[in-house]
Amino acid sequence: MEAHLITEVIEQYLDRQPAAEKIRLRLYMALRLAILDQALTQGTKLPPTRSLAEDLKLGRNTVVRAYEQLLVEGYLEGRVGDGTYVSDLVDLASKPAPPRRLIGTRREGLSRRGTMIASNAASSVIQHGAFMPGVPDVDLFPFSIWRRLVAKYITPSQSNLLHYTHLGYGPLKVALANYLRVTRMMVVDPKQIVVINGSHQSIDLCARLLADQGDRAWIEDPGYWGARNVLRAAGLDVLPIPLDAKGLAPTLADWETPPRLIFTSPSSQYPTGTVMALDRRLELLERAHQVGAWIIEDDYDNELRYDERPVASLFGLCRKQRVIYLGTLSKVMFPGLRLAYLVLPEDLVDAFVIGNSELYRGGRMPEQAALAEFIDEGYFTAHIKRMRGVYQERRDALRCAMESRLGDAVSVSGGHAGLQLLYRFRQPVDDASVAAESLARGVVCRPLSMYYADQQRAEPGLNLGFAAVPLKNIGPAATTLAEVIEHHL
Ligand SMILES: Cc1ncc(COP(=O)(O)O)c(C=O)c1O
Repeated sequence: MEAHLITEVIEQYLDRQPAAEKIRLRLYMALRLAILDQALTQGTKLPPTRSLAEDLKLGRNTVVRAYEQLLVEGYLEGRVGDGTYVSDLVDLASKPAPPRRLIGTRREGLSRRGTMIASNAASSVIQHGAFMPGVPDVDLFPFSIWRRLVAKYITPSQSNLLHYTHLGYGPLKVALANYLRVTRMMVVDPKQIVVINGSHQSIDLCARLLADQGDRAWIEDPGYWGARNVLRAAGLDVLPIPLDAKGLAPTLADWETPPRLIFTSPSSQYPTGTVMALDRRLELLERAHQVGAWIIEDDYDNELRYDERPVASLFGLCRKQRVIYLGTLSKVMFPGLRLAYLVLPEDLVDAFVIGNSELYRGGRMPEQAALAEFIDEGYFTAHIKRMRGVYQERRDALRCAMESRLGDAVSVSGGHAGLQLLYRFRQPVDDASVAAESLARGVVCRPLSMYYADQQRAEPGLNLGFAAVPLKNIGPAATTLAEVIEHHL
């Protein structure tokens, strides 16, 4: 690769690092990620420290120290009198390369919206391992059953399933409606269900069909960064609304400029785990009805509830048809399946079927058919039941490990449902630095501050996923994390 391209790659990776971070750590992380992504491949000769420092307008020492750290860790190797090279990491070739980010894309060529999306990006390059939140253990998925079912629907005699689809696979909607009736106390006609490729697409569709550019949307603060970014990308005026112990807590003044959309996760608020209180639910429904706002209910992980019976949905409580319910298969099947569903008030169904088809084109019919059978034959509930046991044990192990290593320095919340626990620091800590340093030591965690749209309000903490971490790895990863945390206290 030519020298100027190498510098450009490094620059692009540097742009992606948290701005709040110290520059030395940002450069180190950028180089490390570029190597892991194989954007800088083995044997690539890095620019001399002096010229890279000049090109990136950094101090030479900053570059020297970043190189030194990577030399020690084995990502780089120095050849005497020659220069610094990306080393031949033995096991890197066998690992799938994480997706490349923004390589080959220049910010200058992007629209304002494109730049905004790229600059606010918050999804993690690494999507598994200790302690990535929000991901299930895909290694325990019943592969052979799924393979048999998918194979059954990918045959010449069922070639009709390989077409685009306007309405989706009918029997899957029936299976989902039955499932929702039993587990979520929701009485819905299968026709009210639209199957879609993931919750982000659901949110995007709601934004496009129910709101116009500049309309106001409320989100929870802290809340799911993905929803915030999708709503912003759709051109909405996103207003963060704080939470209290009862859940989303808009003031009377907030209602004076009513929103068009309200995004909430009432059964298990993400990332705090708070369950919205009944009086707050009733008030929210009533006021939304009065002002003509639509409520988007993100019910992303309620199947995985450990200590209590499932919490009833807002959709089921609403008699005035103001709620759009989002379900996803990502947490209980696997995220890469990219299947989710909306349950809609009857009057919205036609527009959403059309919108889904016009904007994204429906497909994945063999998978939809396999999923319908997976649910009907009881594999779905059996898998959820099994994973609930596995996850509960891992959740307890993480709680125990964090408590024994950090004691009172942190407080924990959440964990009644879902795949992660939220830890808050009891004293001011730069949680983004903790997360960055912990990532550099191989442990992924997400700083609580990143879930806040309003940084003035942000509290420091860490969102830790336990579900995808085998029991034996929880203790060692918690030890590494605790060492990093202690260093920042
Ligand atoms: C709160 C919340 N809602 C929705 C989703 C997205 O689900 P999907 O994979 O269906 O897009 C996530 C994914 O992490 C999530 O954390």
